[in-house]
Amino acid sequence: MIYNIAIDGPAGAGKSTIARRVAKELSFIYVDTGAMYRAMAFYLLREGVDRNNTELIGDTCQNAEISIEYQDGEQIVLLNGENVNAYLRTEEVGNMASVSSAVPRVREKLLSLQRKLAKDMSVVMDGRDIGTTILPDADVKIYLTASSLPRARRRYLELQEKGETCNLDEIQKDIEERDQRDMNREISPLRQADDAVLVDSSDLTIEQVVDRILEIFRSKTEKEVSHES
Ligand code: DC
Repeated sequence: MIYNIAIDGPAGAGKSTIARRVAKELSFIYVDTGAMYRAMAFYLLREGVDRNNTELIGDTCQNAEISIEYQDGEQIVLLNGENVNAYLRTEEVGNMASVSSAVPRVREKLLSLQRKLAKDMSVVMDGRDIGTTILPDADVKIYLTASSLPRARRRYLELQEKGETCNLDEIQKDIEERDQRDMNREISPLRQADDAVLVDSSDLTIEQVVDRILEIFRSKTEKEVSHES
């Protein structure tokens, strides 16, 4: 049996940490679609493309082949064959990804790769449009959110741990701007799918959110099994 779990939500809600843990518990593959958009953004930045030039973003992305492979269960993003994981988690790349991911030709390039992964194996896939567009028939859909301050605090601590200088107010402002862009773009905006379960992680620990998602998955699949028998 192949199962698909879709987790969507705004930046900093804890999607990747939680999706990775849920995948580990169930021995599924974790697919981080944000990393694919970030790899594309990294390519555009490296090519010196102006973030306001939508036409040029659409043209330039045609020269970037994104693929992924797994090493010890970790997703490695390959950009024209080069492992670019080390460059993807900066604010600069995240902000560019939020802009370039609104360009239809960028999304088209990544859509088939994401669908193919979920067709071939059981996945926990996180992103912005997984439940609404990429995997509309996913077995479980979660919309994971939190208010902007706890999200900014988490991001601040993450950056501090990496030794990067950062400012909490600026991070919160960036997060709010990114939410606006992700939720208001024309193509595949971030929104909760009608059949997604809303989980607000503002006052929950990572373990509590993981347990909640596992519980939702198990009750859903148990029901399916008992219907079949
Ligand atoms: O989740 P993240 O911060 O790594 O994502 C980076 C950007 O990529 C985010 O601002 C929106 C975009 N994105 C998207 O449009 N669709 C997805 N499925 C995943 C990410």
